[in-house]
Formats: sequence, C-alpha cells, structure tokens
Amino acid sequence: MSHLVGKSVDAIDTPALVVDLDRMERNLQTMAAFAAQYQVLLRPHAKMHKSAELAKLQMAAGAVGVCVQKTSEAEALVSNGVHNIFITNEVIALHKLARVAALTRVLAPLGGKLAICVDSLEGIKRLATCMNEGRLSSGIASEINVFIELNVGQNRCGVEPGAPAVVLALEIRKHPALNFAGLQAYHGKAQHMRSPAERREAILSAIKAVRHTHELIENIGIKVGLVTGAGTGTAPLEAASKLYGELQAGSYLFMDADYAANEQAIGQPRFKHALFVKTQVVSVHAGHVVCDAGHKSHAIDSGLPKVHAFSSRSELVYSNGGDEHGILKPAAGSTRLPSLGSMLWLIPGHCDPTVNLHDVMIGVRGGLLKGVVERIINVDARGCLT
Ligand SMILES: Cc1ncc(COP(=O)(O)O)c(C=O)c1O
Repeated sequence: MSHLVGKSVDAIDTPALVVDLDRMERNLQTMAAFAAQYQVLLRPHAKMHKSAELAKLQMAAGAVGVCVQKTSEAEALVSNGVHNIFITNEVIALHKLARVAALTRVLAPLGGKLAICVDSLEGIKRLATCMNEGRLSSGIASEINVFIELNVGQNRCGVEPGAPAVVLALEIRKHPALNFAGLQAYHGKAQHMRSPAERREAILSAIKAVRHTHELIENIGIKVGLVTGAGTGTAPLEAASKLYGELQAGSYLFMDADYAANEQAIGQPRFKHALFVKTQVVSVHAGHVVCDAGHKSHAIDSGLPKVHAFSSRSELVYSNGGDEHGILKPAAGSTRLPSLGSMLWLIPGHCDPTVNLHDVMIGVRGGLLKGVVERIINVDARGCLT
C-alpha cells in the first residue's frame, strides 16, 4: 500500500477504507477541547480504530491513555508502543488473565499502566491468582488498576449498583497486586437513543445509581479514585455530572451513519464523518447502478451505509447487494444516477466492525475529491477478538 503515498485519491483501488485526515483531526481537537472545558480526563475507546498510530495521536492531543475491550487488543497496542491501556471488560479465562498479568510486567519498567474491569468475586480472585503467580515466577511486583463495572442500564456486564459493588470493593482491597481504582459505569444502550431527552433520562438515572454506590463505598473508608464511562452519544451528560472524571468515547473520531441519525442536543460537540469506503460503479441499469462494496467492505449491524453526497442533486440510496455489491438508486426527488466507472464514497453504518474488516486505512489529506494519500494507517489489532 505504501506505493499510494503522495498519489491522488484517484489512485486508490476499490473497495478501500479511507480516512479523511483533515476531518479526523478536527474531530480529535473538538473532543480534546470539550474534555478540557469540562475538566474531565479523556480515554478514547481504541476498539473503534484498533490502531496504535491513532491511539498515540489521541494521547498526543491530551488523552491520558486508551481503552480496549480485549486482552489481545491490549497486547497489539502495547507491542506497538501504547503504554497506558484500560481493558474495559471482564476477563475470566485463567490463560487470558496470565497474559493480562504478563502485560503489567511488560509495562511496569516502561512506566506504563494497565487497568481492567471486574464484576464478580470469582473474577477478582482469578485476577489476583494470576497476578500473584506472575509476581512469584518473575520476581516483578507489578500491579493492575481494577475498576468495578456497574450495570447502569445496558443489562450486559456489570454488578448491580449499591451494596453488591461494596462487596467487590472489599474483596479487591484484600489483594496487594490489585489496586482499586474506581467505578466503570458505561451505558451502551443510551448512546443511540435518538432524542436528547431519552439520552438525558437514561444517563441521569445512571448518575444517580453511581453516586449512591460511590457514597456507600466511601462510607466504609475506601476511596473511589475515578468514575469512568460515557460514549460519543452521551459524553456531555457524564462530563457535566461532576461525578464522572473520565470519558471513554470512541466513535467521535470517525463518526458513523448510525451516530449521525441521533438528534443533537443543544451545546453537544459536533463531529463530522471522517471514515469512508471508496467504491466504484461497476454495472449500470435503467433505474439503478451497482457498486463494488458489499458487506465484506463495511459492517451492516447498525444499518446500511449512506452514500456521501457532494451536492443535493447527487443523492443516492444504498441497498444491500450481498457480500461484494451495493445497489444504488436515486434518492427521492432526484433522478440522476452515476455513470459506469464513477467513484463513490460510503459512510459506514458502524465504524468499529467496519474497521475490523480491513488491514489498513488509507489516510487522505485535502478532501475526497482532490486529496492526496498522506499515509497508510495500520489496523494493528484487526481480528484481535480474544
Ligand atoms: C465500555 C465502553 N466504553 C466506551 C465505548 C465508546 O463508545 P462510542 O464508540 O459509542 O463513543 C464503548 C463502545 O461500545 C464501550 O463498550
């Protein structure tokens, strides 16, 4: 791919995943400025881009570190020079926990940090066992920051707020290799609630539950260092809570079509689409054309891609043509169809699983029409699911 660097966007073969670097950098700065304004830490979720280069860019812009969801994602980022990582997920298999413990020993001499979530007594004991075994066999007394994950409405992982969380905090404190770092309270379901009122209601109820849990834990003399959570859809609410000290938003950097369908709240920071699938029209018919990007090029779990329109007269609607094809028809009020060989730009419905379909992202400077390929960004943690 490096042969593309310095060439025009026209030289990019299709289908390909392309990042508009100018837009991405504006999104980066907007979120960094937003976090600074609210005096909260920013720890973007790197499961979205899976790239060490972009994680470092976010940290250079002020992020304290990044989040990942999987042990192997953490390994991929650490081995590419990212040294402050939070696995915002529960890890239970002993062989994986041994890898987590090994990462803490890699990071300790580098001044790096690793954090992880727990939501059960058994999970804490397993983590402690693997950390202790690692300490004994290596002689390195590394530590791991441990966050108790609370279920604040998503009904996925997370212990119930209140007394059950206190039991976990007491257990964490028994293990010298585990450092109780605080609470993770991420409300995934709230991120794509379409109206600001729905999102507000969901997050205010989460904040109430977190505040109560925070008080219960501090009342028995255990300090809750940090409350961390929030995604791109709700970050302003958590940021204004004076309870959350860290935001984990990830999608803001690329912004997908699903997020664009959210109705914006007043004062919410605005992010622009920066991730595109470049595709070519390969077949033309009376009422539709066909492009060469199907769902092997972009994820469709959160809806089909939108076609980036350079003018209102060229609006197209994408429908599913299978693995390798997309079917395009003129949007309502338009009759124009692109000609054979035309290049189009799709905005994926969901950026995270779309990125995971590609080995690299092609970084373009100067826009999608006249831009130049500036660099190739590796998806270092592509396929890291374990
Ligand atoms: C625990 C956690 N934190 C943060 C995020 C980031 O959310 P978003 O990409 O919607 O900004 C996610 C995404 O799923 C997540 O699972």
